[in-house]
Formats: sequence, C-alpha cells, structure tokens
Amino acid sequence: MKFFIDTASLSQIKEANDLGVLDGVTTNPSLMAKEGITGEQNIIQHYLDICRIVDGDVSAEVISTDFKNIISEGEKLAGLHKNIVVKVPMIKEGVKAIKYFSEKGIKTNCTLVFSASQAMLAAKAGATYVSPFIGRLDDVSTDGYELIKSMRLIFNNYKFKTQILAASIRHPMHVVKCAEIGADVATCPLSTILALLKHPLTDIGLAQFLADHAKGEKK
Ligand code: E4P
Repeated sequence: MKFFIDTASLSQIKEANDLGVLDGVTTNPSLMAKEGITGEQNIIQHYLDICRIVDGDVSAEVISTDFKNIISEGEKLAGLHKNIVVKVPMIKEGVKAIKYFSEKGIKTNCTLVFSASQAMLAAKAGATYVSPFIGRLDDVSTDGYELIKSMRLIFNNYKFKTQILAASIRHPMHVVKCAEIGADVATCPLSTILALLKHPLTDIGLAQFLADHAKGEKK
C-alpha cells in the first residue's frame, strides 16, 4: 500500500518524507487556504516547493467547474512538474475533463467520491486515482469501507488500472482496514501517519529495557 500525506504544510511534508515511507502528497483548496497560500503565483510556487521535497505524485486540485477552464487550469498545473496529478471533482464536467486528460497522458485524481457509481465513471474515464472520502462518510453514518470493497471488486472485475486512493482518513485503524480491503493508497494527515507507529506497550517495554541496561552498567 502506498502512503500519501494529506496536507499542504511544507514542514509536515518534510517530517513525513524524512520517515522514508512517503509515496506522495494530496492537497485540496481548504488545505492550501489553511497554510495561507493564496494567489496564482503563490499557489504555483507552493506546488513546486512540495515537488522539491517529495519524489512522488502530488495532487493539485483545480478550482474551475466547467470543462474549458478545468482543462486550461489542469494543463497549467500538469506542466509545472512531472509529478503533478490534476485533482478534478466528481461532476459531469469533471468526468469529461478526466477523459480528456487521460487521452493526453496527464495523470488525474478524481476527488469527492462517495459512491461506487461515481467511482466506476471516473475509472471508465481513465482516472489515475479515485478518492473515496471515508471519514466524511463516517460523519453521515455510512460505511466507507463498504464503498472501498465495492470499488475493489468492480475495478478487479473489469481490470481497471485506476488506483483506489482512500481519503478523508482520520485515524490509524482507517489505514489498517483500508489496507485489508485492498485500497491502493491511503492519504493521511501527519498525526495519523505518526499514530501508526505508536503502541503503549512499545514505550513501556523500551523504558524497561533502558532502565535494566542502566542498572547493569552501574554494577
Ligand atoms: C484528499 O485528497 C482529500 O481532499 C482529503 O482527504 C479530505 O479530507 P477531510 O474530509 O478530512 O477534509
């Protein structure tokens, strides 16, 4: 399973990258705004800064919602760096744009996916990644894992190459469960990536080992 970090914070991206297990980055307009990145030139510079830190796919989301502007915005983003993946919303104009981009060899991430029917359309259009938002489904009492299982089955049945990018991940068990049911990628906040390595028995065990070693040294 690939691990992406879900943030636009350069310091958090560096920290995750230093762990040595990072495969890519996802951003969205809310995450960019949270870092105070506004204005076309600053946004472009920020994506370039991210691409300099991580050698892997970096999703950059379009703001446009009509075909013509999604295409011109997406082509501009894709032209910034070979690792940029154009993130396109699951709307009618977005599906048309994904088809266009896939024919041009431009990588895409279809975002805001909440049903298997949406995922199927994105895969048919040739999306590189499809992002089911499992945390937001949890928020409305719907099982996001069932969506990923259904997507896995459909993509396997028809040998779609589109990768399932589990998004809106909130805690480490989301990641573990997504790995069990066959998501190709999990994009997580830094806190979730770091939580993956924590276990209280590890901390207690290490403290005991170090204390026993220190006692032995004193003898
Ligand atoms: C990533 O591609 C998504 O935009 C992100 O995971 C959404 O997460 P949220 O539901 O926590 O905002």
